[in-house]
Amino acid sequence: MRFEWPDDLEPVWTPKVPELAIAANAVSVLMPHAEPYVVACTKAALDEGLIEDPDLTQDATAYLTQEAQHHGQHRKLNDLLIARYPHLARADRAAAWVFGRLRSRSTRFGLAFAAGFETIAFVAARWVDRHQRLLRDGEPVPTTLFLWHLAEEVEHKRVAFDVYQASGGGRLRYAWAMTIAALVLSLGSLLGTITMLRAERRLFSPVAWSRLVGWSLSFIFVALPVMVISALPGHHPDQLVDPAGLQHWLDHLDPETSTVPEWALP
Ligand SMILES: [Fe+2]
Ligand SMILES: [Fe+2]
Repeated sequence: MRFEWPDDLEPVWTPKVPELAIAANAVSVLMPHAEPYVVACTKAALDEGLIEDPDLTQDATAYLTQEAQHHGQHRKLNDLLIARYPHLARADRAAAWVFGRLRSRSTRFGLAFAAGFETIAFVAARWVDRHQRLLRDGEPVPTTLFLWHLAEEVEHKRVAFDVYQASGGGRLRYAWAMTIAALVLSLGSLLGTITMLRAERRLFSPVAWSRLVGWSLSFIFVALPVMVISALPGHHPDQLVDPAGLQHWLDHLDPETSTVPEWALP
């Protein structure tokens, strides 16, 4: 994928609901640390011969390629954000430290983390699909980045779970690692959000916090049932119904130019 990032990108790229862009930017800061971690763990599973099924090997390789593309694009956005909000470099360093610590854990924990992380990414796609109206005034490039990324999260929703299962992983470790993933993602996002709210002089805005708390609660309402169900014996990510609106991005990918049409209000 190629995105043309303007040097003068407006970091608050949803002007009618500034907190949405700020929260999404905060998630973006985590991606060049979280995604390389799940890539490294999946690559380790391939290298250690934990996956015997050739189809799954192929899917896992495609998954690695997608994730590498995602965090490469988020890095470009994050560099623009850090140039605009220098204090955001602290959140970036904190994420690097946390994922550096996680790398010292076993491959099996890493695979459980990847599977849990992917479940959370799937519910993020479902949440955004239901709240696409919030993006109605979004700047095209960052909006397209997030929707394209989430569409691919839906597309590969089962791969990390299958890799984890093929490595002999159980549900308890999955549930534990998913909880760690949820904590890391939520605390990391909060740190980045506070940093950008302060820079935008919105840290003490009741409107900003009422929106952020409302979205967080609605996200938990979407995420928690899926997270619990996904940890139950017999459940597989294929049983999760895909959000319909995001398929558009995969259908319109142009392999010649590696681009998708820029986002526009349907
Ligand atoms: Fe991703
Ligand atoms: Fe993913």
